[in-house]
Amino acid sequence: MTTARAHTNIALIKYWGKLDEALIIPQNSSLSLTLDHFYTDTTVTFDENLTADSFYLDKKLVPRQRTSRTTHVLDIVRAQSGEKRFALVKSTNHVPTSAGLASSASGFAALAAAATKAAGLNLDGKSLSRIARRGSGSATRSIFGGFVEWHQGHSDETSYAEPIQEVIDWDICMLTVIVEKKRKKISSRAGMNSSVRTSPYYDSWLSSTGKDLTEIKQAISNKDLVQLGEISERNAMKMHALTLSASPSFTYFNGDSIKIMDYVHSLRAKGIPCYYTMDAGPNVKIICRQSDVPRIISELSPDFSSDQLILAKPGSGVTYLD
Ligand code: ADP
Ligand code: DP6
Ligand code: CO
Repeated sequence: MTTARAHTNIALIKYWGKLDEALIIPQNSSLSLTLDHFYTDTTVTFDENLTADSFYLDKKLVPRQRTSRTTHVLDIVRAQSGEKRFALVKSTNHVPTSAGLASSASGFAALAAAATKAAGLNLDGKSLSRIARRGSGSATRSIFGGFVEWHQGHSDETSYAEPIQEVIDWDICMLTVIVEKKRKKISSRAGMNSSVRTSPYYDSWLSSTGKDLTEIKQAISNKDLVQLGEISERNAMKMHALTLSASPSFTYFNGDSIKIMDYVHSLRAKGIPCYYTMDAGPNVKIICRQSDVPRIISELSPDFSSDQLILAKPGSGVTYLD
C-alpha cells in the first residue's frame, strides 16, 4: 500500500490539443505553475484477492464505466513492472473535481506516483511524468514543483516534463476565484478535440504559442511578474478563442468569469499588476504579487465572498506520505 500526494498546476502557456490521442502527445509544448493549495492524495494497493481494479474517489466507488482512464494507467504500470494483480485505488481530491481547477492533473500525477511505487518501480521524475501523461496531459507537469515545462516531443519517450524553476524566491501567487464547483458539461478532452477539428484559428494558435513559451521563460528567469502576466493572459484568451470559434461554438466562461476579468482590468488601471488565466471551467485564477492580495480581495469583495477567494502559492512536486 502506497500513498502519494500531487498538487495541481495551472498552465500559463496552455496545452489545448493532441497530436496523438492514444499516447497523449500534445500539439504544442506548455508551461505551468504548480500550486500549494490544491492537491490529491491517492493510495494504491495491489491485491491478489481482487478480480478487477476498484476505484474510490472521495470515498465513493466510481462505477466501472467511468474508471477507464484509471485502469489504463494501472495497465501501463503493470506492463512496466510485471505486477499481475489488480489494484484498490482510493483517492481524495482537495480540489473541486472536473471544474477547471486541474483535478485531472493532480489526480493522475498522484496515481502514477502511488501505483509505480506500489508495483515496486523506483522511477525518476521524467519517467514518472511520462506515465502521468497517459492519464491526463496536464498531469505530466504535476510531478514537479514550481514552474514546469512539458516538452511536446514526438513519441512516448520524448514527451515529458521538466522543472524550469523549482524554488521560487520571488513574489508571485494565484488568487483563485471559485465561482462554480459543479462538474463541467464539456470535459477538457472533448473541448480540445473539438477545437483542433473545427476552429479555423487553430493554426494561428499553434504558430503563436511557441513565441509565448520562449518569452515567458525569459520572464521567469528575469522574475518579471508584469511580463509573465501579460503573456499568460494573452495565451489563455487565445485558447478560449478556440472554443468560441469551434463548430458548434462553446465556452467555459460564465457571467462571473467576465465580471472578474473586468475587475482585473480596473485593478490594473489603478496600478496593481494582476492578470487572469482560465482553464476548461469558469473559475478564474488571478496572477499577482502576494503582497497585493489584500488590496485585490478588498476590491473584489462587493461581488465575491472571502470563502470564494483562495490564495494559492507556488507548490511542490509529488511526495510520498508513507
Ligand atoms: P479538470 O478541470 O478537473 O482537470 P478534466 O475534464 O480535465 O477536469 O478531468 C476530469 C477527469 O479527471 C474526470 O474523468 C475524473 O474522473 C478524472 N479525475 C479527477 N480526479 C481524479 C483522481 N483523483 N484520480 C483519478 N482521476 C481523477
Ligand atoms: C485548459 O490535461 O485536463 O487545463 O489530457 O484530455 O486529460 P486531457 O486534458 P487536460 O487538459 C488541460 C487543459 C488546460 C490547459 C493546461 O492545463 O495546459
Ligand atoms: Co484536466
